[in-house]
Amino acid sequence: MRRIIPIAPHRTRGLPPPAMPTGAAPDGALLRDALGRPLRDLRISVTDRCNFRCSYCMPAEAFAHGHAWMQHSELLRFEEITRLARCFVARGVRKLRITGGEPLLRRGLERLIEQLAALRTPDGAPLELALTTNGTLLARRARALKDAGLQRVTVSLDALDEALFARINGVGASPRGVLEGIDAALAAGLVPLKVNVVVRRGSNEGQIVPLARHFRGSGVALRFIEYMDAGGAHGWRMAQVVPSVQVLARLQREFPLAPLAPAAPGETATRYAWLGAGGQPDARLGEIGLISSVTQPFCHECCRARLSMDGKLFLCLFATQGYELRDVLRSGASDAELDAAIAAIWSARHDRYSALRTSLSPEARQAPRVGMSYIGG
Ligand code: GTP
Ligand code: 5AD
Ligand code: SF4
Ligand code: SF4
Repeated sequence: MRRIIPIAPHRTRGLPPPAMPTGAAPDGALLRDALGRPLRDLRISVTDRCNFRCSYCMPAEAFAHGHAWMQHSELLRFEEITRLARCFVARGVRKLRITGGEPLLRRGLERLIEQLAALRTPDGAPLELALTTNGTLLARRARALKDAGLQRVTVSLDALDEALFARINGVGASPRGVLEGIDAALAAGLVPLKVNVVVRRGSNEGQIVPLARHFRGSGVALRFIEYMDAGGAHGWRMAQVVPSVQVLARLQREFPLAPLAPAAPGETATRYAWLGAGGQPDARLGEIGLISSVTQPFCHECCRARLSMDGKLFLCLFATQGYELRDVLRSGASDAELDAAIAAIWSARHDRYSALRTSLSPEARQAPRVGMSYIGG
């Protein structure tokens, strides 16, 4: 097997590299990591750029003029992404999610979607293909994305209040453009459509009920996410987290909700149905999801790998380092060599940051982590 060199991501250069995984999984076998978790999802970041400057992700001070954006030659080409995705699919991946930065800023993204949509599982079935976006460019792209083979989108929207949303996104954008994007995506059939809200105490907790009122009846899954100490969330404090139980209590004061069974293993959200006119759960109205990554971590079922736009493989949202796959790819590796690299890296995985958060030393908690804008949410 060609030697895989694990290196630090650009923002954490200087840290010692992780130990090289040894021992590969048997040829062609579905992978399990060191904690027995399968590899099911691959999240592919296609750009480090974004047209927003959300204070908890890409604060304007840190991403102003002079920031060293990635050069085009550093980015994986679409053919390289597709080739890697094919290797991951052979080892069990069934869901591909395209993220960023803001993925719709990557020129010609529809071409990548066409390539990924053509991939098949070893049994010949299509994959799940989704995209996470801030929604600003969705209104004019939804139809082309659908035509290219995208199945569904998840749109981030933290507030409906004009002034508050403008402040949160850091560029003065109005929620109206995002809502138009959501409408266009629904009309194009990019469903089930999910809307993600990162809830922060002292910021947008007052938007929980207005957002719920707005989306009840739209068919959208509205998901409230606990604010995490991810890279980019500078100065994060536990006091800023609104625990999901409190979000649920606020919602239940206004709307009757019924718990739903998990739709898939390893799912991030706990789901609730709206009750319809007859007092029965009515899926046509949409649903509510609570993503409790801080108060009820779901690491024990985490089946997500993350590929950065420059070809590093990260095993956790809170990773400090990634494994360099781009150099392997560009050194002329065969598919068998790429497969061996992926198998060795996943087999040795033992990451479970959120489950360990409270037992870590303050130094370990404050280690420089790869940013959300670098590997997506
Ligand atoms: P679908 O349900 O298939 O749409 O995917 P998903 O649940 O992975 O959803 P999405 O990509 O929209 O993730 C929603 C949010 O959950 C992200 O923005 C993160 O805040 C959080 N999240 C997703 N995956 C992880 C994870 O592996 N670990 C942690 N701690 N948080 C995650
Ligand atoms: N905590 C929780 N979610 C976050 N996201 C970005 N930063 C954080 C954080 N610190 C979410 C965004 C978006 C997705 C890409 O990640 O809101 O939905
Ligand atoms: Fe851009 Fe999403 Fe980060 Fe906001 S959270 S800056 S929209 S990548
Ligand atoms: Fe997975 Fe890491 Fe998130 Fe835990 S903290 S669920 S291991 S990405």
